[in-house]
Amino acid sequence: MKQQASVVILGSTGSIGTQGLDVISRHPDRFTVTGLAAGGSHVELLAQQAAKFHVPQVAVADKNAAKAVREALDRAGATYTSVQAGPDAVIGLAGSGASVVLNGITGSIGLEPSIAALKAGSQLALANKESVVAGGHLLFGSQTRDNQINPVDSEHSAIWQSLRAGTHGEVSKLIVTASGGPFRGLKRADMTGITPEQALNHPTWHMGPVVTINSSTLMNKGLEVIEASRLFDIAPDRIDVTVHPQSIVHSMVEFCDGATICQASPPDMRLPIALGLSAPDRMDDVAAACDWTKAANWTFEPLDDEAFPAVSLARHCLSASEKHTAVLNAANEQAVHAFLDHRLPYLGIVDTVKAVLDEMDAELRGDPLFESVEEMSRIESEARRRADDLIDKQ
Ligand SMILES: NC(=O)c1ccc[n+]([C@@H]2O[C@H](COP(=O)([O-])OP(=O)(O)OC[C@H]3O[C@@H](n4cnc5c(N)ncnc54)[C@H](OP(=O)(O)O)[C@@H]3O)[C@@H](O)[C@H]2O)c1
Repeated sequence: MKQQASVVILGSTGSIGTQGLDVISRHPDRFTVTGLAAGGSHVELLAQQAAKFHVPQVAVADKNAAKAVREALDRAGATYTSVQAGPDAVIGLAGSGASVVLNGITGSIGLEPSIAALKAGSQLALANKESVVAGGHLLFGSQTRDNQINPVDSEHSAIWQSLRAGTHGEVSKLIVTASGGPFRGLKRADMTGITPEQALNHPTWHMGPVVTINSSTLMNKGLEVIEASRLFDIAPDRIDVTVHPQSIVHSMVEFCDGATICQASPPDMRLPIALGLSAPDRMDDVAAACDWTKAANWTFEPLDDEAFPAVSLARHCLSASEKHTAVLNAANEQAVHAFLDHRLPYLGIVDTVKAVLDEMDAELRGDPLFESVEEMSRIESEARRRADDLIDKQ
């Protein structure tokens, strides 16, 4: 029998976090949960999770939520659980030295916890793609040994699995699949009055609000191209995107001899989360497999770059510098929140990101890499401020 792995879950109350706990609850012999972290907006759920998994430590980013968490833990009967509050508490828990840290935080705020986990020698099961987009080399430079990051994004997990079929030198290209989101087939002119409710209605995946909006604008795919290029060290021009509305083929690797290897399974994040937790091993019965006794159509179509310019914008940033990709992400986070608050029209999301990048382009030239997290935070803050200014003027 395998030794039990200790697991810390960051963002435990979100879509990735709750599914991670679901996987763990089905394999109690393999995992013990040593810490949970969340933002602080779902304290009852956090306390119930702590009680169910007998978790010794929880951390919440919101300092003001500490009292509410303690009270909720008492109600849930988890009186043995200690509570820390504030952003540093989340980073501290991430760096507490668990065997595996699952990072399911949304946004580049997840970078410092990712770095802390790597520095502490933990295996990082990474769903927080923004860690790679905002501070790729800061993240990779924090590894204490090789192969410390297990990709959890379904596309990157699929590529990671497919890469086992050959060597790095044998890879011709990566093909990242996209569902196309709820507005597939629409032209820009058709998307003028789209509401948050419409954009939150994803056809194949049930995810948190930010990643769902990003999926609808295809910015999510842009972030994933950046993530794939950096995680797997493949040049941007050797990464294609294809629209596959069924979300069964989660991405592919084409090798030099013309063979293409893919990973296919019905859409269910528990599969890449489970592999992220247990790699290099696979666990039994994590998710349903494809049913080959039934007829099925898998379709693939090219991306409409004119209607969905976010992927080409992301490619441009990836080729320019890490600073550009951090600004892309920060401006996008501001714009998505403004759209969800009904302060920005749908088409304004990507337009705002592009405008911020245009404004900041000259100051982003020079050293392409961040020297430190502090430098990254400063440039991100500037991007967020400019995005807010543009949004206020709408
Ligand atoms: N959901 C998916 O299927 C999916 C698939 C692939 C990749 N991803 C990526 O995974 C990440 C999480 O996505 P999601 O859909 O799970 O998001 P989500 O449902 O919005 O959950 C976000 C989680 O992060 C917590 N959080 C927010 N700020 C925090 C902070 N400063 N410190 C610690 N925790 C904090 C939230 O806590 P509160 O509840 O207290 O707010 C919540 O638990 C994103 O990067 C996303 O792109 C998600």
